[in-house]
Amino acid sequence: GRYFGAAIAAGRLGDATYTRILTTEFNAVTPENEMKWDATEPSQGRFTYTNGDRILNQGLSNGSKVRGHALLWHAQQPGWAQALSGTALRNAALNHVTQVATHYKGKIYAWDVVNEAFADGGSGARRDSNLQRTGNDWIEAAFRAARAADPGAKLCYNDYNTDGINAKSTGIYNMVRDFKSRGVPIDCVGFQSHLGTGIDSSYQANLQRFADLGVDVQITELDVEQGGNQATIYSTVTKACLAVSRCTGITVWGIRDSDSWRTGANPLLFDNSGNK
Ligand code: XIL
Repeated sequence: GRYFGAAIAAGRLGDATYTRILTTEFNAVTPENEMKWDATEPSQGRFTYTNGDRILNQGLSNGSKVRGHALLWHAQQPGWAQALSGTALRNAALNHVTQVATHYKGKIYAWDVVNEAFADGGSGARRDSNLQRTGNDWIEAAFRAARAADPGAKLCYNDYNTDGINAKSTGIYNMVRDFKSRGVPIDCVGFQSHLGTGIDSSYQANLQRFADLGVDVQITELDVEQGGNQATIYSTVTKACLAVSRCTGITVWGIRDSDSWRTGANPLLFDNSGNK
């Protein structure tokens, strides 16, 4: 069966309402921030897993899947990594992938190995970033390092503004097709789906075209702005996943509206009091 997950924060696990909803309504968790580069390697070569392990243990003790998020990303990098470039950054990035994936080896259902590496707009090109400037092969190098470190985890590429057939999602589609043809280890594509008041009519067809490449697809960070057709959009996303056999699960990006990163949007499934 498919999983239904929530992004959770270690600092909220002491909140009884939050934990009650988490353990009764969800069977997967994603750390909202606790496994990002700045959190896990605040200074180079010194790894801190305390809060990431809290999320992991919350999930495992509840019999839930744990999605690892995210090994490499242009955002939320520690300052020391932001200051690196070239070979020094490439080596540091691959070491980060190896160390973190090794620490969590055997425990993670799926890793977001690379997050948000494509540009918005009509180019279909990679996003400019310090990682991209180390060479176009940085993404496949990261996937190979992750596979070597934890052969049991599904390895995902994850991005936003990919919630339909458009230039950005097509750029990613072409990368995944190329990776599959050359044997680069990739198992899944995550669609963040931070949605506003509408949803692209090609949402399901877009999931299906990726699935047809031979990868799983997952909705990884779903939230939907209130005030438009919020319930209908949640329903459309859910039905799309259910209609695509390789859509293995849906994760919402928080539990209550008051837990959301989108302040004021009230985009989640539970209100501030924890009511559905
Ligand atoms: C967000 C978190 O929810 C915030 O708490 C944090 O301040 C910034 O990052 N895409 C992603 C997520 O992949 O990691 C982001 O999470 C939201 C956008």
